[in-house]
Amino acid sequence: MTKIRATITGVHGYVPADILSNADLEKMVDTNDEWIRSRTGIQERHILKGQGLASSDMGVEAARGLLEKTGTSPDEIEVVICATVTPDMLFPDTANLIAYKLGIKNAFTFDISAACSGFLFSLNTAVRYIESGAYKKVLLVGVDKMSSIVDYTDRSTCILFGDAAGAVLLEPSQDDETGVMDAILHSDGIGAEHLYQAAGGSLRPATHETVDAKQHYIYQNGRPVYKAAVMYMTGVVQEIMKKNNLHPDDVAWVVPHQANLRIIETMARMLDFPMERIMVNIQKYGNTTAATIPLCLWEWENQLKKGDKLILTAFGGGYTWGAILVKWAY
Ligand code: UT7
Repeated sequence: MTKIRATITGVHGYVPADILSNADLEKMVDTNDEWIRSRTGIQERHILKGQGLASSDMGVEAARGLLEKTGTSPDEIEVVICATVTPDMLFPDTANLIAYKLGIKNAFTFDISAACSGFLFSLNTAVRYIESGAYKKVLLVGVDKMSSIVDYTDRSTCILFGDAAGAVLLEPSQDDETGVMDAILHSDGIGAEHLYQAAGGSLRPATHETVDAKQHYIYQNGRPVYKAAVMYMTGVVQEIMKKNNLHPDDVAWVVPHQANLRIIETMARMLDFPMERIMVNIQKYGNTTAATIPLCLWEWENQLKKGDKLILTAFGGGYTWGAILVKWAY
């Protein structure tokens, strides 16, 4: 029996309208445009404003656009997976809220938490559902409202993050030549001490004290995370290329998680891969955690050709990291 391959048949994104520029941040914390641009590559990020708006609302926008452009009815979706570290609430799962708001009634839903690698980990899961033969349409949403967990008095983190959503549809491939070809994913809890949100979970349930201590905000010790990101993302891209007998010339695009332009440039140098074929949009959006990779695919969609080999790669809190090889289907 020939193997069923899963393929991405559509991608869509959503970015909220409000912009937080480096000039805006200069008025909020002791920082400056030159430092932010030269250390991170970020010029501005988008922020979801408005009472009662949450990650699910951005996810709905991205997913609704995706269903429209792929001509998919909500009734056809069988599984909804949401990658996020900023769920609307700890439970119910945000995928469930997204499905409900979209009128998706025939699907089961769940969230995946793997920080900045969330989209890749979820993509691998979605792919396995398709490959099993049991499901034919899986909706995957990567969304984060990072502004809900960022401390806008902490200059070391508030300059980095933005809000956005991206969504992809996974279906069985119509041919053996295109689809998601391979995935290598890793986790190592050694990173837990460098990047976390201390309170609000079962270890430190939210109290007046945890809020006063700002423990419901993101904490990051940037230097070790930076070094690990360069080392592990580069390593896993090399690993997937070697495993699939690929040379940089064979790969049309590398699609990296957007955490820091310097991380991406260093990775490119170490891989001997030209920056012209690496998707970069961090200057406009900052780090949108689970949304970075689908946002890139969405923005570059018109430039992609059937059969193009893409390597998606991410590194994030945990630590978590990985690479997925895709042969673009359309
Ligand atoms: O997506 C999940 C994974 N996350 C990442 O991959 C992020 C990895 N880390 C990074 O991207 C970088 O470490 C940062 C962008 C977070 C920080 O850049 P850095 O070059 O590592 O700076 P640093 O933290 O070592 O700080 C250098 C200096 C410090 O001042 P002193 O001690 O040298 O006087 C900081 O206080 O820069 C200072 N600094 C700032 N100055 C102006 C830190 N943040 C700022 C700021 N504006 N916003």
